[in-house]
Amino acid sequence: MTRCPDFDRIIDRGSLPGEKWARYAGRDILPLWVADMDFAAPEVVLEALRARLAHGVLGYTDPWPSLVEAVIDGIARDHGWRVQADWLVWLPGVVSGLNLACRATGEPGDEVFTATPVYPPFLSAPENSTRRLVSRPLVLDGGRWSWERDAVEAAIGPRTRLFLLCNPHNPVGRVFDRDELSWIADLAERHDLVICSDEIHCGLVLDEQRAHLPIAALDAAVARRTITLMAPSKTWNIPSLYCALAIIPDAGLRRRFRAQMRGIVPHVNLLGLVACEAAYRDGGPWRAALLEKMRANRARVAEAVAAMPGLHSVAPEATYLSWIDCRAAGLEKPAAFFEAGGVGLSDGAPFGAPGFVRLNFGCPPSILDSALARMASALHTRR
Ligand SMILES: Cc1ncc(COP(=O)(O)O)c(C=O)c1O
Repeated sequence: MTRCPDFDRIIDRGSLPGEKWARYAGRDILPLWVADMDFAAPEVVLEALRARLAHGVLGYTDPWPSLVEAVIDGIARDHGWRVQADWLVWLPGVVSGLNLACRATGEPGDEVFTATPVYPPFLSAPENSTRRLVSRPLVLDGGRWSWERDAVEAAIGPRTRLFLLCNPHNPVGRVFDRDELSWIADLAERHDLVICSDEIHCGLVLDEQRAHLPIAALDAAVARRTITLMAPSKTWNIPSLYCALAIIPDAGLRRRFRAQMRGIVPHVNLLGLVACEAAYRDGGPWRAALLEKMRANRARVAEAVAAMPGLHSVAPEATYLSWIDCRAAGLEKPAAFFEAGGVGLSDGAPFGAPGFVRLNFGCPPSILDSALARMASALHTRR
């Protein structure tokens, strides 16, 4: 019988190395920044890892048939898209995939488009690859983060080769709908762009009336120009196992992508592959329980932030991240301000949006409530 995951239990992470909690070691600051959760990985994943470790021999290992089958079936089951085994390119991380996509499209000096705010590696990948970044902001339209279609269209020039899409979106939490994705697909068709769609958060859709739609699942034409990046890392909270995949239906694009990897990008580590198989095949019940918990945490954040003077946020449709506008609060550096008040958040500036902070609510509710109370108190007691 599978045990019910306990998302209320506080697991001491401060006593072990780990980015999220080590940043504030020895200081009374609750870390709600980097995007991992303070929960143990699913028991089915841990069991698979234990079983593999018990064998003892950790030799070079390529992805194997039951792993590939679990991933293909999992994507079909959860996202309605049946991909083919030869479309898969295994990667030791999604950020590698973003950078490889930049290198695999166009020439040095060509342009890569993305919309801000966005997960910072989207903004650095073009320059890492001697491409030029072109960006336009997402805008709040009727209380929802949206594309300003004319401005995006106008930003695409003759040297733009790649559209970097984040869906579901980090940090604004949008799950882009069929109409928005069809518009992006059409734009890419008209300007002959490759689309690299980072869908790492696709297992974390919180709104029950919404579903993640992979842009490449729209039709065969858009699939041919798309590199989709997925991973079990965010949904099942195993990011340090570094296992991800690019799904590239077009053989030519796949060849160009693989050519950039040659001799540089290592194979995925064995434990990442083992965990990936267990997560995609058996991680459904854990994911369902997690989503329920995250819906409740999202509501806690929404209620608390609504009562904080000068702060404004829109509840994310997906992810365990809240994007909070602090510009009306008159805080010069909002992340530093809240850090001084005992809460570690991600500053908006590296996402291309100074004046905002990103709050990670992937933690037990008791920690979240303490952090929200600290934020409120910092705002109310400031001079
Ligand atoms: C949109 C997005 N892409 C990629 C990553 C990181 O991917 P990886 O650790 O597999 O490189 C993150 C982590 O927060 C993310 O939010």
